Amino acid sequence: MTTQALDKRVKVLVIGAGAMGSGIAHVAALAGHPVYLFDTRWEAVERGMAAIAKDLAFLVSRGKLAEAERAAAIARLTPVTELAPAADAGLAIEAIVENLEVKQSLLRELEALLAPEAILATNTSSLSVTAMGAALVRPGRLAGLHFFNPAPRMKLVEIVSGLATEPAVAECLHATARAWGKVPVYAKSTPGFIVNRVARPYYAEALRVLAEDAAAPATLDAALREGCGFPMGPFELMDLIGHDVNFAVTRSVFDAYFGDRRFTPSLIQQELVAAGRLGRKSGRGFYDYAEAAARPEPEAEPAHAGESRLTVVGDLAAAVPLVARLEAAGVEVRRAPGEGAGQGWIEIGAARLALSDGRTATRRAAEEGVANLVLLDLARDYAATPRVVLARADKCGHGAWAAVVGTLQRAGLVVSRIDDVAGLVCLRTVAMLANEAADAVLQGIGSAADIDTAMRYGTNYPQGPLAWADALGPAFVAAVLRNLCEHYGEERYRVSPLLQRLALQPGRRFHAG
Ligand code: NAI
Repeated sequence: MTTQALDKRVKVLVIGAGAMGSGIAHVAALAGHPVYLFDTRWEAVERGMAAIAKDLAFLVSRGKLAEAERAAAIARLTPVTELAPAADAGLAIEAIVENLEVKQSLLRELEALLAPEAILATNTSSLSVTAMGAALVRPGRLAGLHFFNPAPRMKLVEIVSGLATEPAVAECLHATARAWGKVPVYAKSTPGFIVNRVARPYYAEALRVLAEDAAAPATLDAALREGCGFPMGPFELMDLIGHDVNFAVTRSVFDAYFGDRRFTPSLIQQELVAAGRLGRKSGRGFYDYAEAAARPEPEAEPAHAGESRLTVVGDLAAAVPLVARLEAAGVEVRRAPGEGAGQGWIEIGAARLALSDGRTATRRAAEEGVANLVLLDLARDYAATPRVVLARADKCGHGAWAAVVGTLQRAGLVVSRIDDVAGLVCLRTVAMLANEAADAVLQGIGSAADIDTAMRYGTNYPQGPLAWADALGPAFVAAVLRNLCEHYGEERYRVSPLLQRLALQPGRRFHAG
């Protein structure tokens, strides 16, 4: 039996009229519930109500909301600065300051005030729902209802169960969030829940590549945005979020996992915070936001002549569409048999071009006995990507390099070079996102389907990390991580036991069918 959503007549009490609380009140009122919006400060309630009115008016002006619906939603909202008048609420959602003791004290007050069957929800992003529930007489009635900012626009809601949360409460919130037009996923109360945990490598890997001075932020941002379809590059995204906030989340996840090296924060980001370069809000972060400041361009290789023919040796796996693209651009393609699946390469002039497998080009050149080795970074769709990222072995000659670059340019591709780091930037980022997602599945934090949904709707990733790993093949992703692990000698890159398990069984995937 599926649990029903809360009836629209059930009154919703939102506590904390800041950015999140007013957004949640907006969503609940628009969905048809009478809503109390509470804050201890009258100015905060007024500001929250004004923000909702402005947002709803904007939707009307854009033709996304009928005037009558706007007026009805506004009429359903009651601003309050005392809790007693809201005692008839059936659902209370707190979005106050992120402090465990303060939240526990508020929840205790709510538990005493509301009917015993009322549901209590917390919008916390980083505190334990279990610990919050421990302060209550009926911890089963409490769950996390984690909206993303801005709540009216972001579809994802994580429904977080603490140890004591009654399944029926989580199911009711899930159904209710869906009825409110959201995309709900179930998560277990663990640090970072799904999104704030699985997203860590998106920042961490780019910061590591930058720490090795392999390329400028603008080049790495362009690689992930254009090559992989992420809506924003990691550096511009950190500048937007604010380095103080992003660094604090990273630190709290690192500490909460007892110092698991996987979540090690970056010294580069610590320096930015120390310097007050917090990103857009302070006018400077990785980029300079002063009006007169020019935005740095991503690195692009100068034009080279390139070759009019190439030879594909063996199976190129994910890079197959690149060859079709070169062929369509008039490059003559010959084929020769190779070794195992996905072990192929492209001979261009005196160079060998291969998809990265997590080893550096220099190591691979030594192991394969080929000096002129050039590695290709992962792209989400080689048939359409405007940019490809390459790295070359230290011994690669300039002529061989220029032949590869020029040939790719024949297909209209912008080529960016980064230094010879293991796994370049896109491949190691996607592999580590998939690795983190795999561990989250293994540990029962969420299902594979929910984790992919959470990353698509909570961070706007173009594809869920597990679906991405499925497309690349779990064995390939595991091999990339093993190579990174060996290269750095760090357990940070250890392969998730679940990924290892799938990698051993050809054809097995995270998503069945
Ligand atoms: P905010 O600072 O914009 O708003 C908090 C509001 O709560 C303020 O108006 C304040 O007056 C009020 N408040 C503080 N203590 C109170 C109390 N004891 N009783 C009643 N009202 C009280 O904060 P924001 O950003 O809206 O965050 C609220 C909660 O949502 C936090 O738990 C935060 O971790 C979580 N969250 C924040 C997200 C974000 O991107 N800002 C995203 C998802 C969750």
